[in-house]
Amino acid sequence: MAPENRARERFRSDVLSGLEVSPRSLPCKYFYDARGSELFEAICTCPEYYVTRADLALHEEHIGAISEMVGPDAHIIEFGSGAGIKTRKLLASLDQVRAYTPIEISASALAAAAKDLEQAFPDIEIRPLKADYPLDIDSSLLDLDPPSRRRVIYFPGSTIGNFDHEQAGDFLARMGRIARSHGAVLIGVDLMKTEQQLLAAYDDAEGITAEFNLNLLARMQRELDARIDLDAFVHEVRFNRDYCRVEMHLQATRPTVIEVDGRQFVFEPGETIHTENSYKYSVKAFRELATRAGLEPVRVWKDPDGLFSMHWLEPMK
Ligand code: AVJ
Repeated sequence: MAPENRARERFRSDVLSGLEVSPRSLPCKYFYDARGSELFEAICTCPEYYVTRADLALHEEHIGAISEMVGPDAHIIEFGSGAGIKTRKLLASLDQVRAYTPIEISASALAAAAKDLEQAFPDIEIRPLKADYPLDIDSSLLDLDPPSRRRVIYFPGSTIGNFDHEQAGDFLARMGRIARSHGAVLIGVDLMKTEQQLLAAYDDAEGITAEFNLNLLARMQRELDARIDLDAFVHEVRFNRDYCRVEMHLQATRPTVIEVDGRQFVFEPGETIHTENSYKYSVKAFRELATRAGLEPVRVWKDPDGLFSMHWLEPMK
């Protein structure tokens, strides 16, 4: 089967299994088709969505201290394509970085970013790696000859917030193993703040986040020929205090039926499909999670407004 078809069949089976259980949910990774990625870019410029600006401000403010921690002759390994401005900032500020490996599942995003970075940083060896991180990374593909002084796993943006605590712990442990004993993990983590600020950030006045959420249904129509009355669903945001997470749901406002592959899924008014979790942490809570995953919290930086954090973690000996 062609890779696109395989991806589509995976989407289909995840949709079917997510809709047949109660409560219903869909994996948030499916937000990011071409339209969804465009909408996410637009979210990042919304006044209410502080995350991107705070992450950038943190980089501005602390890039000197961060590059001191990285030191010379490092191999930077990013989970993500590296197309972002933060990556450029980091690479530009580093002293004699040895190599940079972006890891990304989309071959086209990876190739485009690698080409840009090669032009911008002719002295850095750019080694793109296509993989579904962190699951199937063949760690030997990261080896350099001669070996770099240290590997630094770079994961900005707070994507870790989409994982529950158990998944986040597994993910951190895996990153620690890839970094190896003399390496480090440099990871962005969004911080807890008032519920009001959080709800606004995930429900902007312009309705871009709503469109981003509803695009998942539109994508099911486009790719799976699903029959859905889009007008019967609205974007819903909740703060779940017990889990310290923002949840996004698609809520049916009237009785409606979604049909996929000849199967019918009946919704009562008020019923939802849970589409995303975005966990928020205190510095202390995240450090505890990292410690349980075998990583020692060594440094932490925050943006000037204290909204966002970046942790430097080292595998315990
Ligand atoms: C890309 C996972 C950091 O959870 O804040 C933005 C995704 N969802 N608005 C986040 C998102 C709704 C975002 N991350």
